[in-house]
Amino acid sequence: MENINWKEFGFGYTKTDYNVRCHYRDGKWGELEVSSSDQINVHIASTGLHYGQQAFEGLKAFKGPDGKVRVFRIDENGKRLQSSSHGIMMAEMPLDLFREAVIKAIKLNERWIPPYESGASLYIRPVLFGNGAQVGVKASEEYTFVVFVMPVGPYFKEGFKPTDYVIYREYDRAAPQGTGIYKVGGNYAASLRGGSRAHAEGFSAVLFLDAKEKKYIDECGPANFFGIKDNTYVTPKSNTILPSITNKSLCQIAEDLGMNVERRPITVEELSDFSEAGACGTAAVISPIRKIVDADNNIEYKYGEEAGERSFKLYETLRGIQYGIVEDKHNWNTIIEF
Ligand SMILES: Cc1ncc(COP(=O)(O)O)c(C=O)c1O
Repeated sequence: MENINWKEFGFGYTKTDYNVRCHYRDGKWGELEVSSSDQINVHIASTGLHYGQQAFEGLKAFKGPDGKVRVFRIDENGKRLQSSSHGIMMAEMPLDLFREAVIKAIKLNERWIPPYESGASLYIRPVLFGNGAQVGVKASEEYTFVVFVMPVGPYFKEGFKPTDYVIYREYDRAAPQGTGIYKVGGNYAASLRGGSRAHAEGFSAVLFLDAKEKKYIDECGPANFFGIKDNTYVTPKSNTILPSITNKSLCQIAEDLGMNVERRPITVEELSDFSEAGACGTAAVISPIRKIVDADNNIEYKYGEEAGERSFKLYETLRGIQYGIVEDKHNWNTIIEF
């Protein structure tokens, strides 16, 4: 609009015009409500506050060169929120209601959707938490859902540049049979110490290993890991990582591009077999990896100063689909009608 300076946005909170809310009480979901306040009422004895009954999602909407606004794989985020809710015993939100809430939040904040030329996008953050009074450790009977949106800048301001990751064996983000596959706040709290040490030591994020044996690659802070070996895209199969929607999409694109795809356990030693490696997620699509430092063993796995050819092709294809430049063969986008 008018005087929004699209260049000033990084990945941070910006108050936009409206957010959409929905409450679950007496065993059912209510009507969607619209608010212009960025504050909510939280019960002092809510399970969200005390017992970590909380989950969230993250997705994006993109304005293409054709002026159309596309949201990427909205139903996948809706399904993942249902899975997280199931995992920590919260009320599950019906997919249609999730979809309606997300689309409503986008439409109400139309003026905040960055133009194509800015390279920015609209980040959408749905959050759900137990908001009923409960002092004993038990699932809440009441839930609050909110979806808010904000413009976020292009992830790569200086181009598609590889960065460094680090392995520290003293931190785990999730237990072997725990909540690692759910997008719940507790996993992120558990990752903060390792993550902030990694930043202080000049790394983008921690490359977490499986918590049980410390033998296999799990994921890269808030992103999944992949490596490229010859013409094969290899990504961890693990029950302690978040099922990334970006990774799932990249696996499909890799196949579409004639690559092989392997989803299987990856040992730490195998890091030396890859010619390219990357972290993938909604924030950056792909963040190429320059090197991985195994800090406990003083070993470095190096992938080069420039992003590899295959990572770049995968990145360009997925971004192209999101902006409506590359054919959306698998019907991943929802076009928002204003
Ligand atoms: C722990 C974790 N892993 C992976 C991802 C990437 O998932 P997605 O591609 O769905 O954004 C995220 C971000 O959402 C995350 O927080």
